[in-house]
Amino acid sequence: MISPNYYLVTLVIVLIANVPCEAQLSSTFYDRTCPKALSAIQTSIRQAVSRERRMAASLVRLHFHDCFVQGCDGSILLNDFTGERVALQNNNSVRGFEVVEAAKRAVEAICPGVVSCADVLAVAARDATVAVGGKSWIVKLGRRDSTTAGSKALAESDLPRGSDSLQALISNFANKNLNERDMVALSGSHTIGLARCVTFRARIYGNDNVSIDPGFARLRQQQCPQTGGNDNLAPLDLVTPNLFDIKYFKNLEQKKGLLTSDQVLFNGGSSDSIVQGYINNPRSFLSDFGASMIKMGDIEPLTGANGIIRKTCGSAN
Ligand code: HEM
Repeated sequence: MISPNYYLVTLVIVLIANVPCEAQLSSTFYDRTCPKALSAIQTSIRQAVSRERRMAASLVRLHFHDCFVQGCDGSILLNDFTGERVALQNNNSVRGFEVVEAAKRAVEAICPGVVSCADVLAVAARDATVAVGGKSWIVKLGRRDSTTAGSKALAESDLPRGSDSLQALISNFANKNLNERDMVALSGSHTIGLARCVTFRARIYGNDNVSIDPGFARLRQQQCPQTGGNDNLAPLDLVTPNLFDIKYFKNLEQKKGLLTSDQVLFNGGSSDSIVQGYINNPRSFLSDFGASMIKMGDIEPLTGANGIIRKTCGSAN
């Protein structure tokens, strides 16, 4: 006769196996369920960046803006034009959606319904960085997707602004468990990409009270008038705008940071020594950047039974 204990133990095992646990992200998450996912994403991102170098910058930023609003849950990718997508910091600014969607399609073609959009974006940000000369890092995986976008108000309070002071930036990142060094390293991604005149006008006309190289100010004023031309673009790194290097930090040393939030990182405050350290040891920037991207990718992910795997990134199934 089978003892009653046998049934009890079996029941407990069945129950435990069905309880969704608070899973941790892991770099091997898709090793069994979709072993070719990462190479499919990489191929897709390499193609997109070779078509347009700026896309590398846009993808890195998209991952950042995803993670800072409601966690790294792919929420920014949803085609909801009432929430975070139309926040001041995103509206008419974030881009790269069709590239993420194409990478997701490539993954869906080999293993449908397995890989989240949040993970596709995290991998895309890494592959984009590498495609323009950055150093690789190991992306942790297993994020699931949100069913809704973050609100406009949440995005406006949680995303930093180009006019922010050093203290504001430090506390904004601290709210996401990122320290001052992470903040400086991650700002180093402004070594690639472009910004709109409206985001740096106050600075180049001397209205932010943060010192600026006069020749650089005049140069930028040529494409960014006092009124009008809000969407005119300028490179965040005037020296090598398409290369992931430390020129961004060198510019700060020369008071040629484009945004106020760039220049405050080297303006006689606590982060000067971090910037100086990266200039002295470029490799330390490249490795810190990867480590901080891993930390950023850990912000409030949906795991286990939370969230969904979207079929397309723009809509919640
Ligand atoms: C420290 C606080 C930060 C502030 C205040 C800030 C602000 C900005 C602003 C105002 C722009 C220009 C947007 C436009 O004109 O449409 C921009 C662009 C960009 N940001 Fe940041 N950012 C910050 C941190 C970061 C971080 C942490 C990352 C990534 C890890 C990042 C990546 C980028 C990239 C790559 C671009 C260029 C995007 C493109 O060309 O499409 N930024 N940022």
